[in-house]
Amino acid sequence: MVPDPAAPRGAFLVALVVTALILGGVTLLVALARSGGPRSGRLLPIVRVLWLGLVGAVWVGLNLVSLGWVRLGRVGPADPAPVTVEVEARVWSYRISNPQVPAGVPVLFVVRSADTLHSLGLYDPDGQLLFTLMAMPGMEERGLFTFPRPGRYRLRCLEYCGLGHGLMAGDLVVQGR
Ligand code: CUA
Repeated sequence: MVPDPAAPRGAFLVALVVTALILGGVTLLVALARSGGPRSGRLLPIVRVLWLGLVGAVWVGLNLVSLGWVRLGRVGPADPAPVTVEVEARVWSYRISNPQVPAGVPVLFVVRSADTLHSLGLYDPDGQLLFTLMAMPGMEERGLFTFPRPGRYRLRCLEYCGLGHGLMAGDLVVQGR
């Protein structure tokens, strides 16, 4: 199988093979230079220059070529436009602008606090924590997330914020498309 250099895995395999080939070639030259043959004294400086040149070329080349494989930011032009969910935290509840969002579409969370320091921990239907965002008075925290599957997700405050902290929760329903 020939690796597809356009895929990140393919790029890694290509880099691995190129590195192995260069390492093998240089090792061979070093072995020749050290073998004590008639021209071995002149081989060693050439090996050094070759080695530095090759490593430099490969390093610069791979970095330049791999620029095309880097996805800058999590929302590319091919992605659907994100759905914005504004979450305002206050003692001891969340006000969620639209508590129903579609699965498979990027969701931009914009989190604020109306009073004190809170946070937002988002749990999937199995109770696994997916991510956390801080809710700070006078500030705004943003996070982008794409829900892979529908279900009832749970918001919980993970920053101690007073007596009702343990009860501070909310629901977000992710709908199938
Ligand atoms: Cu809000 Cu703890």
